[in-house]
Amino acid sequence: MEAGDEALVEQWDAWKSGKLGKVPAAVLLELIEACQARRSSAPALEERLATHDKALAEKAGTAAAFEECLEGGDAKLGKEIALQNLTANCTACHKFESKEGSTVGPALNLIGKQKDRIYLLEALITPSKAVAPGFGIMTVTLKDGKMLTGTLVANTSSTLQLRLADGALEKVDTAQIESKTDPISVMPPMGAMLNKRQVRDLVAYLASLDGGASKKSSKSGNSPK
Ligand code: HEC
Repeated sequence: MEAGDEALVEQWDAWKSGKLGKVPAAVLLELIEACQARRSSAPALEERLATHDKALAEKAGTAAAFEECLEGGDAKLGKEIALQNLTANCTACHKFESKEGSTVGPALNLIGKQKDRIYLLEALITPSKAVAPGFGIMTVTLKDGKMLTGTLVANTSSTLQLRLADGALEKVDTAQIESKTDPISVMPPMGAMLNKRQVRDLVAYLASLDGGASKKSSKSGNSPK
């Protein structure tokens, strides 16, 4: 085993044993990539990655499978993906820093101020897990057999309000409801469309969206004073 491989094994074990002080979360993806690049030459790495891949397969489709995308990343590249990537197509549904744009999904100009990185990662990987209020689509079946599908606008113990596809607001008495589905998001899960670097860059970009406050207050970046 090469000396470099030994160092990788050491870092890997430090990460897996929870000693993240030694492995900054911002370089987790780089560590995994470096280990992957060497796995065929170093049995100790191959063994660790095989275990890792198995655990990953069990977490497939959850934000936990993207833990290395939480910290670090390049907000500038993330912005390019948000505005230009045709597969992810974010701008078909969202406004980011401009006032004009789609209103299918919530405006995201302040999202970095409102939500933490874990929330942002989950919003990308499992959109229907925590649906932004006023944007969930649900189907309600009434006791008389009538079915209504629309965006859940408000929900109290006595009434539920749905915005139907034609824009009309329908108030439903909860006593009349036979069954209802959980609100789901029309946003596609991004884990299947983007690679881990892209997801991490997007999280970094979303986390930086504070309505322009940071650009106004300081030009020298985040370095401590
Ligand atoms: C087909 C439309 C659609 C596309 C494409 C789409 N989104 Fe969404 N997005 C939504 C809707 C609708 C919601 C609100 C429901 C929810 O919380 O999932 C949402 C919610 C979100 C949220 C959570 C907002 C909040 O206030 O909780 C984030 C962050 C987000 N989207 C980012 C993105 C990014 C980044 C992309 C591109 C990589 C993207 N979306 C692509 C429709 C879309």
